[in-house]
Amino acid sequence: MDYGARRVSALSRNVELKVRDPDPAATLARALALPGVRDEGEIRQRDTYFATTSGRLKLREEADARGARAHLIAYTRPDETAARASSYRLAPIAEPEALREALSSSLGALVVVDKRRRLLLWENVRVHLDEVDGLGSFAELEAVVEGGSDLTTEHERVAHLREQLELGEVVPGSYSDLLRDGPQVLLAAADAVMRNAYAAYSDFPVGAALRTPDGTVIAGASVENAAYPQGQCAEASAIGALVAAGHREISAVAVVAEKLDVCPPCGGCRQRLKEFARPETPVYLGRPGGPVHATTVGELLPLAFDEEALA
Ligand code: THU
Repeated sequence: MDYGARRVSALSRNVELKVRDPDPAATLARALALPGVRDEGEIRQRDTYFATTSGRLKLREEADARGARAHLIAYTRPDETAARASSYRLAPIAEPEALREALSSSLGALVVVDKRRRLLLWENVRVHLDEVDGLGSFAELEAVVEGGSDLTTEHERVAHLREQLELGEVVPGSYSDLLRDGPQVLLAAADAVMRNAYAAYSDFPVGAALRTPDGTVIAGASVENAAYPQGQCAEASAIGALVAAGHREISAVAVVAEKLDVCPPCGGCRQRLKEFARPETPVYLGRPGGPVHATTVGELLPLAFDEEALA
């Protein structure tokens, strides 16, 4: 990434927007046709995200035709579905491996995002055409804010390019969120906890993992009882742990059963999940590394009984 002569220690700002790109070749052709655009070529980037108490922290390691570089990037960004302003600080890193080890062992590494980025520059807007491992193709616009701008120009330029490049619906959140909200991390957690299930009567162990909006993953296993109706599903166990840990919102769900490729949550658990989720909250049914049946809480429980019915 070319940060030019910007003062790396200063707080920098940008206005940015991310969309899924179903046709990256067409977007690239449109971007290359922009008057005055500069093609900076392809960059390989690896971002390691670390656990933080506020904001986000990632180590970016990248390589392109000009060589290899690394920066530590601290930033904040509201997750909105429009173009959004974010502020960030950059620190150049001479020994990225040593820093990655130090931060991973102290703070903890949350997720690694690998991508190929085609970088184009238009005015003060960076156009990113990204191929992200495990996520697919995206286009990003990032208007770098100059001086004490009130962001009007930046928003206008982003809107202009969005139209020129025919970019679709904005994706909120970062690639790290999308990866962490994807199926694999949650399925692995559900699979791991399933091994602790107490399935003494059915011999049908089940594990469930729930993600909260702050990225926490909470898992629970099925717990049976000699008095059969006292048994508890994995989802109920996980929800109990989620509430006990102080959370009130589920942003993604995974369910894994030892003896079924796709274990549909029982009717009661659909209602339990609905209490803390939204209709669009994803539910992943499958096994880690295997085919995943992706559905949503709303699909699983149409016409749900909810607090509105009580009112
Ligand atoms: N089970 C779950 O844990 N979750 C579901 O959604 C379906 C069923 C468990 C409960 C019981 O221990 C076993 O599967 C057989 O019903």
